[in-house]
Amino acid sequence: MKILMVCLGNICRSPLAEGILQAKADAAGLDWKVDSAGTAGYHIGEAPHVLSQKVAKQNGLDISFQKGRKLRKEDFIAFAKIYVMDSENYNDARRIASEHWKENKVDLILNELHPHENRSVPDPWYGGYDGFIEVYDMLDKACDKIIKRHSAR
Ligand code: 4NP
Repeated sequence: MKILMVCLGNICRSPLAEGILQAKADAAGLDWKVDSAGTAGYHIGEAPHVLSQKVAKQNGLDISFQKGRKLRKEDFIAFAKIYVMDSENYNDARRIASEHWKENKVDLILNELHPHENRSVPDPWYGGYDGFIEVYDMLDKACDKIIKRHSAR
């Protein structure tokens, strides 16, 4: 199964979500391919933010090889599930998807932990390292939930 993680810049949150879910899927023996993209093109071709790389590394994950890319409408055909970090990402994704939008493929990732509450993963871009740790912990819990739900099938 192919899963896509989406945030604004594809530099802070979604690269972490990609790294975390891919590692958990691999560990669970699931044949999943996780990718990430941004709704904006500010950081195309760049590696993840140094503080995303740092918090990943402190949790045993290497995300340094990832390269930023922009979300495209074809992603809504290629991926089975697309998780966004906040409601702005959700609205931007719907605009980018255009005629390929599929409501049931796309959800806010924190709805895995808090169904229907539409909570956001805060953007750590303007803050310090604590914000990245907070984001990591939220994504780690949400990804655990995703794996548990699929493993129970
Ligand atoms: P992200 O964070 O969406 O988690 O990757 C951001 C990265 C860059 C910018 C904003 C948010 N930016 O304005 O460049």
